Amino acid sequence: MLLPLPALLSPDEVAALRRFIDTADWIDGNATSGHQAQLVKDNLQLPEASEAAQSAGQIVLAALARNPVFISAALPAKIYPPMFNSYAGGQNYGLHVDNAVRVLPGAGGTIRADLSMTVFLEDPATYDGGELSIETAFGAQRVKLSAGDGVLYPSSSLHRVEPVTQGRRLASFLWVQSMVADERARSSLFDLDQSIQQLSADVGQDHSALVRLTGVYHNLLRRWAEA
Ligand code: NI
Repeated sequence: MLLPLPALLSPDEVAALRRFIDTADWIDGNATSGHQAQLVKDNLQLPEASEAAQSAGQIVLAALARNPVFISAALPAKIYPPMFNSYAGGQNYGLHVDNAVRVLPGAGGTIRADLSMTVFLEDPATYDGGELSIETAFGAQRVKLSAGDGVLYPSSSLHRVEPVTQGRRLASFLWVQSMVADERARSSLFDLDQSIQQLSADVGQDHSALVRLTGVYHNLLRRWAEA
């Protein structure tokens, strides 16, 4: 599933977040990479422990927590603290797959990356290139969205960031461990939940068939969710 989340952040939130990160000190993006990624990664990143990254990250986390489509699609158990990257002057990130398991900062244990997310933070009219290209069963999908928009995609997919040939691409990225590890199960739950929401709006949520369908949703989630 490749899911756009339009207007995940409001323009005010993008502006507030940009005030934290625009004046911060950026470092070589390979500070956090595994060996294979270092061969293909060429960008800048905010240091994870920096105050700028943490303050800006809180804005992203708050937006995710109030977004019902994100919650329904990701069924998040853990979220890696949002990170921030910058591409300019031809920088790019070649084809790679994200690490399966990461150590959470502090004493937080580990997180399994089931879903990856990019939140675009720059007006796409101000830079050339920088598309996030994600390989899917139906071919490569190229994504370049408005500032404040997010896209959620399986961490298992090969993806790249095309070279930024003019201007600067700023984005936040993060990983989600889902309560439901199996992608097909999670995707079916999302379809079911979205259909229930739509039917509720159309026929009223007290319709007896909808009450039963909602029961089916929760019973499948009970079966598939890891505590
Ligand atoms: Ni990646």
